[in-house]
Amino acid sequence: MSKVIVHVIGTGTIGEPLTGILSDHKEDFGIDEVTFNKNRPLSGDRPKLEQMIRRGALMCSGKEHVEAFKAMGLEVAFESEEAIARATVVIDCTPSGVGRENKHQYYERYADKVRGFIAQGSEFGFGKMYARGINDDVLDKDKDQFIQVVSCNTHNISVLLHTLADDGQGALALEEARFLCLRRANDISQDGSFIPAPQLGGHSDPQFGTHHARDAYHLFQTLGYDLNLFSSACKTNSQYMHALHFSVKTKFKLDMDGVLARMHDNRRVAITEKGSANSVFSFGREHGHYGRILSQTVVSTPTLAVRNENEVVGFCFTPQDGNSLLSSVAATLWYLDPETMDTRIDCLRPYLFQEV
Ligand SMILES: NC(=O)c1ccc[n+]([C@@H]2O[C@H](COP(=O)([O-])OP(=O)(O)OC[C@H]3O[C@@H](n4cnc5c(N)ncnc54)[C@H](OP(=O)(O)O)[C@@H]3O)[C@@H](O)[C@H]2O)c1
Repeated sequence: MSKVIVHVIGTGTIGEPLTGILSDHKEDFGIDEVTFNKNRPLSGDRPKLEQMIRRGALMCSGKEHVEAFKAMGLEVAFESEEAIARATVVIDCTPSGVGRENKHQYYERYADKVRGFIAQGSEFGFGKMYARGINDDVLDKDKDQFIQVVSCNTHNISVLLHTLADDGQGALALEEARFLCLRRANDISQDGSFIPAPQLGGHSDPQFGTHHARDAYHLFQTLGYDLNLFSSACKTNSQYMHALHFSVKTKFKLDMDGVLARMHDNRRVAITEKGSANSVFSFGREHGHYGRILSQTVVSTPTLAVRNENEVVGFCFTPQDGNSLLSSVAATLWYLDPETMDTRIDCLRPYLFQEV
């Protein structure tokens, strides 16, 4: 039997905790080896890389960097391209556009060796869009060698639609939905791109507004839906977590008790009485996995209103990147074995909170 190897490319906001989760739960997940690719040999990154290696992952990089890493006291176990070639699953966690470039430059060349390639939120067009719990049933072993895990806000939008617009028979009955993403300026792990005050975003897509509704539309299109969605976005001068204002209009009647019951019944939805991003973030820091709440949304119940018996309005928080991490693990386990994916991922259930 060949070794089961999962290779993560990128050690940033997504790549670092993902490598850690995979290393910590290697046995639960049925993985023999976790490897990760570090792009630049920056000495300031050495402590982070040491910790990732200490958790059991092997570092890979371009052969031109081997000596520089050696001088930093770090061993490069495999050269970047070799690491892709020997992997069972590759998870690309690089910034916007690099994943699509990598697909053409490398991944397609190793498509006969590697079982599956996964990219993150900004890689529109990389492969089938995926969010755990939304469209697991349409993943197809014969067709879906490339998967794009949707962005954190798209996860949030999608789980709200899935929870609120379900007609009770497992199908969506949605009139329309609108969303305003109140985005943090940058992640606490990032130094750049902070802003001094709220910054409003444009509606570059005339049909969907921003990519968040567009991506949710395409995610649900994999299930055969043609949803009426629109989103707007603005950045706020915060580093904690995104917040989302939503208005979801259904084709059936709803009341507040029903709304709360739906949220309670969906284990990927957390509710909270809190109304500030810092207090929800702080809960994640204390009780989450790598500080992350892995629930797909945290709905602030005091902000909920039901209007005209068919419109649910409210605010919720997007738990950093926890939902993208969970879906990335789920997609990896699906490539390894769809039959055992649900039981293997159970070890992360303690981080799917019902209440925050
Ligand atoms: N941040 C979030 O909250 C979040 C949430 C959901 C989804 N996502 C998505 O996840 C992806 C990664 O985002 P991120 O926030 O983790 O980015 P990030 O923190 O900027 O990290 C990017 C990583 O990619 C590496 N990298 C850059 N260019 C590379 C190249 N050409 N080849 C190989 N490695 C390269 C960088 O390594 P060096 O530093 O060594 O150059 C760095 O480790 C994006 O698609 C983003 O949309 C992010």
